[in-house]
Amino acid sequence: MVCCVNSLSATASAVSAVPTTGTVRLPPAPRSLDALGRNHTLEGALAELVDNSIDAGAEHVLMRFVQRNEQLEQLVVIDDGHGMSEGEIDVAMTIGGERDYETAEIGRFGFGLKAASFSQASVLTVMSRRAGGSAVGRRWRLESARKDFVCDVIDTAYAGKALDHDWELPPGSGGTIVRWDQVKGFPLSGSVAETQRFLQDAFARIRTHLGLIYHRLLERGTVNLFLDVEDVDEGLGQRVDVPPIDPFGYPRTGAAHWPKELVIADEGISLAVKCHIWPGRSALDEFRLDGDVLARQGLYVYYNNRLIQRGGWNGLQHNDKQLNLARMSLEIDRDIPEVLSIKPEKNGIETGPRFASLLRAAETADGSSFADYIDAARDALKESNRRDRGRKARLPAGSGFAPRLRRALSAEFPLRDEEPLSIRWAPIGGDDFFAIDRDECVLWLNKRYRTALSGGRAGSLNDLPVVKLLLFLLFEEIFAGQNIGPRDRDNLELWQELLTVAAKAEQ
Ligand SMILES: Nc1ncnc2c1ncn2[C@@H]1O[C@H](COP(=O)(O)OP(=O)(O)OP(=O)(O)O)[C@@H](O)[C@H]1O
Ligand SMILES: [Mg+2]
Repeated sequence: MVCCVNSLSATASAVSAVPTTGTVRLPPAPRSLDALGRNHTLEGALAELVDNSIDAGAEHVLMRFVQRNEQLEQLVVIDDGHGMSEGEIDVAMTIGGERDYETAEIGRFGFGLKAASFSQASVLTVMSRRAGGSAVGRRWRLESARKDFVCDVIDTAYAGKALDHDWELPPGSGGTIVRWDQVKGFPLSGSVAETQRFLQDAFARIRTHLGLIYHRLLERGTVNLFLDVEDVDEGLGQRVDVPPIDPFGYPRTGAAHWPKELVIADEGISLAVKCHIWPGRSALDEFRLDGDVLARQGLYVYYNNRLIQRGGWNGLQHNDKQLNLARMSLEIDRDIPEVLSIKPEKNGIETGPRFASLLRAAETADGSSFADYIDAARDALKESNRRDRGRKARLPAGSGFAPRLRRALSAEFPLRDEEPLSIRWAPIGGDDFFAIDRDECVLWLNKRYRTALSGGRAGSLNDLPVVKLLLFLLFEEIFAGQNIGPRDRDNLELWQELLTVAAKAEQ
């Protein structure tokens, strides 16, 4: 569709040419609530609540699952942001409730809280307090809201008590609690195993999603996100944080001279699209993200430093396995008419009629185009495949290695279909630094050197990743071979001698 001033005014005059005889007022029927937030996943819905906490200046946001008798009952999100007054909480609970936004805020539509909550739960309770103000609370029950948009007012003493509860967060000035009851996705059976499975899966998805979309704010420490589970009878479980996952966090570039910036400057539109090339398929979380690598190529859009689009080509290009190393980033702080607009769920942009042509015409400082970028990303993948094919197969890494390191090793070379090589600590009589057990495929390290090597830190199964990686690279051939030849024996003696001297020096 071609959209220009002339065609718009032509449509306007076509509209006024239709005769009318008056107006009727047709407010939305309450059942329109049912359609709200239908596209949200649990992690996407939580992100809407976290967006609001960030807009409220929160530095800490805790997401707590509450269970009783192994049955999950509630999800509670607590923040230490500036909170809301009585007037503000009424606007907050109103669908489309309007207020003035600062340019750096994530909120825009007055929908997120309600749409996200009703997509997941039948009851939404919000309790809040401004610094020095009194506690206020409101509750929407989907059932009664559907009849006449009537919202419950929560007893202020109850709201105050909930806000004063020790949430084990640093003391903040104000704060807000958003609570979901009757959560639709929670398992119904209440069996221990099923609840455990659900929580494990939900934690993993939430950490990946929030770690990715807020990675910049998490890296800078602007906000800190936490997850835990409270069992009403048995107390609190372990709290975990949400670590940042930077989709551009590659160790080295995949192609010389990239990344480059495609610059769009046209009639008041000024945009820069930074074109990155990953250095080959990688097992790093930063590359894998949620595992759907094909969907994660393409355009990443940051809106006020919050990632709102995680890949996709917006019609510029088809998803193509050959382009898995191509990721472009774009920064925006508002809609740009005819070019792009932010989806209300903040899970992507809609591109307008001019987007593709502007990007295809854009150039980098050294004259490269979008088409050159696509070619370079394709070549980088071919080159990395060629390199991988040339590498010799090695044993997989077994126990003693952090999962992340195991994955990284397995991504770098083809694996032999044999017992994995483990590196473990054990008491070994005498001073020898290591002992090898080829039958069990274990390289044993003498426990007496553990404290010295780990600099006094408490040991764990996967400790000392750098040391273990170097030992893996050194010893792998010894374990992989059919027999130990005279040359291997000589090497082993040499390594034993030198490693023992080095380990003693560490002591
Ligand atoms: N945790 C919170 N702390 C302080 N105020 C909040 C919090 N959550 C919601 N609010 C208030 O409620 C309002 C409505 O939130 P809601 O998410 O529904 O819409 P929005 O953030 O304004 O826009 P959008 O639809 O883009 O999310 C917010 O603008 C904010 O004023
Ligand atoms: Mg919002």
